[in-house]
Amino acid sequence: MMTPARRRLALTLAGLFTVLATMTVVTSYSVTLYRLFCEATGAGGTTQRVAADDAAVSSRTVSVSFDTSVAPSLPWRFRPMQRRVRLHLGEDTLVFFEAENLSDHDIVGHATFNVTPDQAGPYFKKIQCFCFTEERLAAHARVQMPVDFFVDPRFATDRETKDVSEITLSYTFFPSLRPQGATDLARFGGEDAAAGAQLFATQCSGCHAADRSKVGPSLAGVVGRTAAGVPGYPYSAALTQSGLVWSDANLARWLAGPAAMVPGAAMPMSVPDVGQRQAIIAYLRTLQPAG
Ligand code: HEC
Repeated sequence: MMTPARRRLALTLAGLFTVLATMTVVTSYSVTLYRLFCEATGAGGTTQRVAADDAAVSSRTVSVSFDTSVAPSLPWRFRPMQRRVRLHLGEDTLVFFEAENLSDHDIVGHATFNVTPDQAGPYFKKIQCFCFTEERLAAHARVQMPVDFFVDPRFATDRETKDVSEITLSYTFFPSLRPQGATDLARFGGEDAAAGAQLFATQCSGCHAADRSKVGPSLAGVVGRTAAGVPGYPYSAALTQSGLVWSDANLARWLAGPAAMVPGAAMPMSVPDVGQRQAIIAYLRTLQPAG
């Protein structure tokens, strides 16, 4: 039997040992933990991924510049299609990057990104970006890839960032280490779809988004979908009873004049220009179904 004094000593030693063991584990995993932390919080110049932009738009503006590079082992050309944009904090902004595979075979790449200055990282929020996934680019293919982002208005009140007026977003494409299951960059379509995305941003995005309903229903996966098919969205009776399926041809008629096509429909605008309608439909085709 242990005396009470020896028993206390044994317990203390056991306690110390546990603390020591825990510290060793924490230290050896801290690099991984730090990376996980950065990915989760956007610390250290990485950026955050968000589902939607619910932040209010502020009058304060900030300038964002774009910078791209490609690992020497990846035979791609990759460039920003605009050098810089000036935007209001909270303003949903669409920019484009172009990638071209200069080789004779399909290649899967992966983009990493970085925001400078570091303190701006947590406020830089991306809604849609090619950098979330492994991306396949077919031999000699060229695509224009959208990035949809905004800068959180809290940027203006944080002591660390309130005086920052220039942000730089840099991307580097590397050959993918996990090419299985890559998504295909062909989903972004050609130049038509890129033009359509611009038109969508100016003419439609006030009422529609690809990931949620706003004034209008979510347009995720709209091409091929039954009309009035978003659960929970308060459609007009006219559209609900129309029995339409959103083929390219039906979308073209709808955009030319919703109320002429479906009397009683509640969408109050149209796109008179046939070329613009085609470009917008090319863009709608790139919107993946939700989930
Ligand atoms: C001012 C707001 C507004 C704008 C701008 C607008 N829409 Fe709509 N849209 C609506 C509303 C509201 C509906 C639902 C119509 C109904 O219920 O009859 C709708 C419905 C739709 C539908 C049918 C969706 C479904 O689930 O059946 C499509 C497709 C569509 N809009 C595309 C567009 C495109 C493309 C643009 C830009 C060229 C655009 N809309 C601009 C408000 C808008």
